Amino acid sequence: STKGGVDRYEITQREASLEILPGVSTPMWTYGGTFPGPTIEARRGRPVVVTHHNELPVPTVVHLHGGRTPAASDGYPTDLVLPKDWQDPAAQPSHGMSGMHGMGGMQDPKAVVTRLTREYTFPMDQRPTLLWYHDHRMDFTAPAIWRGLAGLHIVRDDAEDSLGLPSGPRELPLMIADRAFDDHGGLRYPSLDPGLREQPGVREAYLAGVFGDVILVNGAPWPVHEVDAARHRLRVLNASNARHYDLEAVTDDGRRLPLVQVGADQGLLASPVTLRSLPIGPAERYDVVVDFTGVPIGGRVRILNRLGEGRTRDVMAFRVARKAADPSRVPRVLAHDLPAWRRSDAVRTRDFSFRAGRMNGGHGWLINGLPFDPARSDVTTRLGDVEVWRLIADVHHPVHLHMVGFNVLSRGGAKPLAHDAGLKDTVSLRPGESAEIITRFDGYRGRYLFHCHNAEHEDMGMMANLDVI
Ligand code: C2O
Ligand code: CU
Ligand code: CU
Repeated sequence: STKGGVDRYEITQREASLEILPGVSTPMWTYGGTFPGPTIEARRGRPVVVTHHNELPVPTVVHLHGGRTPAASDGYPTDLVLPKDWQDPAAQPSHGMSGMHGMGGMQDPKAVVTRLTREYTFPMDQRPTLLWYHDHRMDFTAPAIWRGLAGLHIVRDDAEDSLGLPSGPRELPLMIADRAFDDHGGLRYPSLDPGLREQPGVREAYLAGVFGDVILVNGAPWPVHEVDAARHRLRVLNASNARHYDLEAVTDDGRRLPLVQVGADQGLLASPVTLRSLPIGPAERYDVVVDFTGVPIGGRVRILNRLGEGRTRDVMAFRVARKAADPSRVPRVLAHDLPAWRRSDAVRTRDFSFRAGRMNGGHGWLINGLPFDPARSDVTTRLGDVEVWRLIADVHHPVHLHMVGFNVLSRGGAKPLAHDAGLKDTVSLRPGESAEIITRFDGYRGRYLFHCHNAEHEDMGMMANLDVI
């Protein structure tokens, strides 16, 4: 609803059985009874207030990924919305990946406030883009997202609307996520399967993260979507816990259609970048235009994952159903408002390693040798400071900063890749790779986070505090 210059939403987090696979019912945790949750449509500069009611059996935390949000509404991992009969967090059974490494139930007692309902306020004072909201509870984020706690949040403004990019039914948000199912349609997650996590080798097997063999797009397995023979704007989000994709659009006769990237995590690029394939790590968003004009009517364009095998190679398909007029265009200049930070603007440089290590007597994932601790301050920066961060990874780590957008300055000691263009909030580091990012910590003072967005890595410690003072 709309009242007093504010857009209001109410979302009840609850259990629901959904038909994800045909003819089978899958018990899930949902935002409002659907997967993905309801899409929030926002206008730049017009605040959105979302009231979340928690009717799930566990505490939850809502984070708007990519939102420029005051810390009080950013969804800090111990800032819980409790369920109805929640008594003693330590006494509850562990459902988290954390159960594998002994952090289950660890909470900052000061942060636990009895609250079944929570209002989150998002100023929406930010560039138009595709954001997403998801659970962010400490130690339990990965299984909560896996069970369904994810939804889209789109920010728009007049400048973007007037560009003439494909719109209406030709603008398609695509939330891609892999899942595994058991024989009865239930979601398979290792630490949810009784007994499994105690079996030898399980911790090690799931250190890489949890993968599924079913690819869902907007909650449907391998969908086929009918389109006009015209340009379409695909707003792609990788909402998978751990899976990386390298997407390509291939016609029946084996032609690869160019993917014209117009936007990154934090909105429009300065000008379009043409890609042959689109690498996308967990939590990243890419805004790409694909032109179906030359595809024969009745023909298909398959979206394939070059990193997949067998059925995880297939993501979805478009069936070109009819000829149609196409008034859309992709302007050579998309935006004028991108920041132009230079190395010389940086007041400091910091180094962060993202590596495996030992924690609590088990395997963990660490930043600069330490697992996440909500009571420790890791980085303190001043509002308005420009900094360069040098990140280095042992294996794949999609590194995400809350609150700010950044530019990728270098990758692997060389120039950034074509798809690193624009303003990002997540950068996907490949095994053994380093990257430099630059950002200005503007926005709000308070405690934020940075972490690996492999959701299992995050739950297994790979997260740190970022205090903006
Ligand atoms: Cu998408 Cu800290 O999260
Ligand atoms: Cu985030
Ligand atoms: Cu990681």
